[in-house]
Amino acid sequence: MKTKLNNPLTFILVGAAIIVTFLGFKFKNENGIYRTMNVQKANVSDVLKFLGDDEMVHSMENFDTEKARIGEELILNGRTKIDSKYSKRISKYFVCTDCHNLGREFEVLTDESAEARLNYADENGISFMPGSTFWGIYNRTSFYNNDYEKKYDLLVVDSRDTLENAVQLCAKYCSSGRYLDGWELESIMHYYKKNELKIEDLSLSENDTKNVQKYAKLKKGEKTDLIETIKSSYVQAYGATFLPTMPTDKRKYGEGGNPETGKKIYNKSCLHCHSSGRVTNLKLDHSSLTGGMFWRNIKKYSDKSLYQIVRHGTYSMTGRKQYMPLYTEEKMSDEQLNDLVAYIKQLAKK
Ligand code: HEC
Ligand code: HEC
Repeated sequence: MKTKLNNPLTFILVGAAIIVTFLGFKFKNENGIYRTMNVQKANVSDVLKFLGDDEMVHSMENFDTEKARIGEELILNGRTKIDSKYSKRISKYFVCTDCHNLGREFEVLTDESAEARLNYADENGISFMPGSTFWGIYNRTSFYNNDYEKKYDLLVVDSRDTLENAVQLCAKYCSSGRYLDGWELESIMHYYKKNELKIEDLSLSENDTKNVQKYAKLKKGEKTDLIETIKSSYVQAYGATFLPTMPTDKRKYGEGGNPETGKKIYNKSCLHCHSSGRVTNLKLDHSSLTGGMFWRNIKKYSDKSLYQIVRHGTYSMTGRKQYMPLYTEEKMSDEQLNDLVAYIKQLAKK
């Protein structure tokens, strides 16, 4: 039987379907089709948009699966294959994952403490790095915050509020590489979009989740409140506090520190770059020789002193482009540094 469009029943059914589609949760999949979905799986940025929040500078409608795949390859390997030929490496010295994780880094997304971050890394078998994770970076609104201005000076001005520029800054300067071509930058943005936060990642109350579900029925004030609640459920901008090298009279030299925690930091952070075959010529291991090297220098103000290297890192130079990023207080607390020293003391058999 042929369906007649002017049949009143068809009209009602089609009309109802349209209303349900518009009231229910919509999202656009890879093929550009809108469909309703489980609110838990909804993108945080879509929900904020539907609630009437201002769009972010780097806002994009959707990701393209193939572009996101290329973006991931660039992040992991620094290059990709085009027509069976390798593209030019972003950097000869680093890939993004030398300094950034790609997954979740905190149990509770409002947490920023170095202790909580290390616990999570320990429980989930991931590294503990000087850079913040790329997971959920799409939902952040500010980059290279606070003290990074001291390191990158005017370069951060354009990168603070624009994710694309932040990527370019890191590709060229943090990675000792080059600015990305348009297609490379676009692919990485698609990767970021793919890995944005979902409602289920936030710890929203049952009531707030229900309100998200029926967002279209909320009053203006309720919408504004819900925007606030959602935005305070994750970190919009990671803090970055630079600390000076600790003065010798403040150093505890491991006293009261936990060597077990120190060992975790050593394995999950230092060895991420300093184990054999990694990014630097300085090979670190669990030998008493390595321990002894650190211990001999521990009281100094030099790059071989843990107190200095952790807070200042090293600088990229002509002829020696590999450098070590510094750890902000948010990425390693003074207590953790003392734990690390306690472990090194154990290694040195002192
Ligand atoms: C040698 C270490 C290193 C490498 C390699 C590196 N980064 Fe970074 N990156 C950092 C540090 C340190 C920061 C400081 C801010 C932070 O992440 O908290 C940072 C910040 C960023 C930020 C801003 C994050 C924020 O929330 O403030 C972006 C975006 C970024 N990097 C992208 C990249 C990309 C893309 C690559 C690879 C092409 C890359 N980075 C490679 C160390 C590195
Ligand atoms: C993102 C990679 C990375 C991480 C993480 C990292 N380093 Fe480094 N580190 C480097 C690079 C690169 C150099 C430069 C050495 C070179 O020229 O090869 C360096 C240099 C050093 C130096 C030598 C300084 C000198 O001038 O002789 C020490 C000591 C050091 N790192 C200790 C550590 C310790 C301890 C940790 C953990 C808290 C750590 N590093 C974490 C990459 C890293």
